[in-house]
Amino acid sequence: MNDTTLVLSTFAEDVRAGLLQTPKTLPSKYFYDEQGDKLFQTIMGLGEYYLTRCEFEIFSEQKEAILKSFLGDDEAFRLVELGAGDGTKTKILMSHFLEAGADFTYNPIDISQNVLEQLEADLGNTVPDLKVEPIQGDYFDALEELNRNHSLKEVVLFLGSNIGNFSNEGAEQFLSKLGNSLSEGDLLLIGFDLMKNPQTILNAYNDKLGVTKEFNLNLLTRMNNELGANFDIEKFRHFPTYDPITGETRSHLISTVDQEVYIEVLDTTFRFDAWEAIHTEVSQKYSPKMIENFAQKAGFRIVENFTDECNYYVDSLWEKI
Ligand code: AVJ
Repeated sequence: MNDTTLVLSTFAEDVRAGLLQTPKTLPSKYFYDEQGDKLFQTIMGLGEYYLTRCEFEIFSEQKEAILKSFLGDDEAFRLVELGAGDGTKTKILMSHFLEAGADFTYNPIDISQNVLEQLEADLGNTVPDLKVEPIQGDYFDALEELNRNHSLKEVVLFLGSNIGNFSNEGAEQFLSKLGNSLSEGDLLLIGFDLMKNPQTILNAYNDKLGVTKEFNLNLLTRMNNELGANFDIEKFRHFPTYDPITGETRSHLISTVDQEVYIEVLDTTFRFDAWEAIHTEVSQKYSPKMIENFAQKAGFRIVENFTDECNYYVDSLWEKI
């Protein structure tokens, strides 16, 4: 160690690594600072962003069938949610489960203690009869903790097509790991956004009000605020693409001019060519066949697929075998 050695945040390190790659890339998890959380909340209410609406419809219309499929032989269970967020959709299910007299505890897992505290406070007000035991931490550490302390059947929720932010290879690894941390008979309800009219998909990531554009550009603002970068937001464009063969939906930020950006915390200048792209997000769309393959490779069998009226989206119920 010498005087100039600084301990950099993982954010700073990830930004350096991403911007030194060709093509340039930045991890989508960094969208979600306070402003990003707000923008994503707004996105979920947009006309074009059908994903949230579809999952809401599935839960509202099929909550009886969903509960039936969770209960099996009327056993008690733990409802474990990975990346709980604000729990709006989950509340529809849980309120119904309580009314129907189901015996369960809700274990939201999130990396953010702040998110969990807000969720717990909100649930205390809106669903006071619900037993809530939040677990702060990494998904897999939290699942391990649950398994150490309890033996009840687990029903894991992974909603919102959050799986779509993984590459297919990454998703395969994640689901196998999840399978390994569950026991035979445990369930996983997982949301997948399906392949559909490409224009419908492109519109969902390029809304008329420009909220998704702002969400993507906020990554630059965040680097300006937290890393002392001098990105000129005006000199970048939001550009989503969809590949109807692979189902890969990508978001990019495109530099409209030749420019240099200095990032103080990294003490580094990065060059951007005119029309050079930074890849910022994957939002994978799936075919039914892809979903079957994922389930099989991770050691699950598909119990039932719950879809919306338009067949845009599926909450797929898997059982660990
Ligand atoms: C929260 C990852 C499911 O990819 O559709 C919304 C995030 N990005 N608009 C998605 C997002 C742009 C969203 N996920």
